[in-house]
Amino acid sequence: MAATPKSRQISEEDKKRQKECTAQIRSANEAYTKANGRAPRAFVLTLGCQQNEADSEKLCGMAEACGYEITDKAEEAALIMVNTCAIREHAEQRALSLVGQYKHLKARNPELVIGICGCMVVQEHRIEDIKRRYPYVDLLFGTSSLHRFPELLLEKLTHKKRVLRGDETEYAVAEDIPIRRESTYRAWVSVMYGCNNFCSYCIVPYVRGRERSREKEAVIREVRELVEAGYRDITLLGQNVNSYGKDGDRSDDFADLLAELDTIEGDYWLHFMTSHPKDATRKLIDVMANARHVARHFHLPMQSGSDRILQAMNRRYTFEKYRDILTYIRKKMPDITVTSDLIVGFPGETEEDFAATLDALRQCRFDMIYSFIYSPRKGTPAAEMAEQIPQAVKSERYERLLAVQNEIALAVGEALIGKTVRVLCDGISKNNEKVYSGRTEGGKIVFFDTTPENTGKFLSVFVERAEPFALYGTVVKD
Ligand code: SAH
Ligand code: SF4
Ligand code: F3S
Repeated sequence: MAATPKSRQISEEDKKRQKECTAQIRSANEAYTKANGRAPRAFVLTLGCQQNEADSEKLCGMAEACGYEITDKAEEAALIMVNTCAIREHAEQRALSLVGQYKHLKARNPELVIGICGCMVVQEHRIEDIKRRYPYVDLLFGTSSLHRFPELLLEKLTHKKRVLRGDETEYAVAEDIPIRRESTYRAWVSVMYGCNNFCSYCIVPYVRGRERSREKEAVIREVRELVEAGYRDITLLGQNVNSYGKDGDRSDDFADLLAELDTIEGDYWLHFMTSHPKDATRKLIDVMANARHVARHFHLPMQSGSDRILQAMNRRYTFEKYRDILTYIRKKMPDITVTSDLIVGFPGETEEDFAATLDALRQCRFDMIYSFIYSPRKGTPAAEMAEQIPQAVKSERYERLLAVQNEIALAVGEALIGKTVRVLCDGISKNNEKVYSGRTEGGKIVFFDTTPENTGKFLSVFVERAEPFALYGTVVKD
């Protein structure tokens, strides 16, 4: 099989340098541990999507290899890393305000290293912002430099000067980075990085670089190891997984990768996200329909139901094309859960366009949607478009969208009452300590009563009650 062109992998020297830097930090941290009776702590804050979470698991893995102990308390950390997101204004404001809160920690402990990385700090204007307005941030690097965290950290620790780098390296695939996974039963596996689609509203292609796929063998090895280690839910990640392999000289595509992964023996679900409707092939849907482990869940972002808006968004499909794919998915897998992303208030969206989105929603009857108010992103074409929609109109449309979806979600949930669903148990619910929660194959939240040792296990739950966002039931024996 063809290999990824070497130019897309980070160089061997780069890898070696990171190992050397890791060893140097580690020996200093071991000396610290000896002198103080405890290891220095590192705190990593994740503010973005699943890719961002996966990156944070690598940051934690690298920090651990450097001799830090990972903590969930910023106050006790010797190293704080804020892993940012730039998808909407709110995400950026949140990152900046959280970084602002760490200022007082630095005042108390001048040795504290505060770092910021991820999608937000690839943008020039944000780098300038940090340089000028956040003098207590010591370390900054963009998404292409994630694997160089040990080197940049060492530079900071050695020279005591700020190390603010943005994206100075080429975007490439970096294998063999240590990973410290958050969960012992749910895992992320990136299959590709970057995006080539340039949807007119979206910042991702500017902050994550062009598409590059991992080698198929590397993905298969990682998934196999996870299944062998007892992982039950593995999500393959990519901004548009259907582009997998297209950047290299391979002949096999994402559907082939999925089919091959499905041959791995074990009791697990294989999820993937995200699939762009313009590239969701019948071949992929057929592979899913025949698979043993691929979860019956399709996340297919629609964004808008209006063809005029879809075109302005540069999505390269019409609602009719979208509906055709959905029809094929449901024909092949009638029991499948379908979820979607929608944006309201895109520039130029008229009442008529919005009505088309509501109508599309009623036709598609998604199990769940992630809906967003359009947020202008500096440097993207949509931010420059005339006819930006006033905030009040956007908010009002957003509420109407949610009201329609809530009705649909409730009806979809109620149809499950009296049925038994398979649930992966997540333990005691974070919001209500009296109940346990878990998720179905389609990602639906289910509440039930059980015991702690069932966390991370599959359970059968008899559904008794439904709300728009959750199901309630009782655990039954298989
Ligand atoms: N690659 C994925 C989406 C990644 S971003 C895909 O193409 O489907 C996740 C979601 O954020 C998008 O689907 C979109 O609905 C939303 N989003 C992206 N940019 C946005 C913006 N500027 N304003 C509001 N929502 C946005
Ligand atoms: Fe953004 Fe579009 Fe790429 Fe998704 S496919 S990450 S929405 S540009
Ligand atoms: Fe993800 Fe936010 Fe970056 S959504 S890819 S962390 S801009």
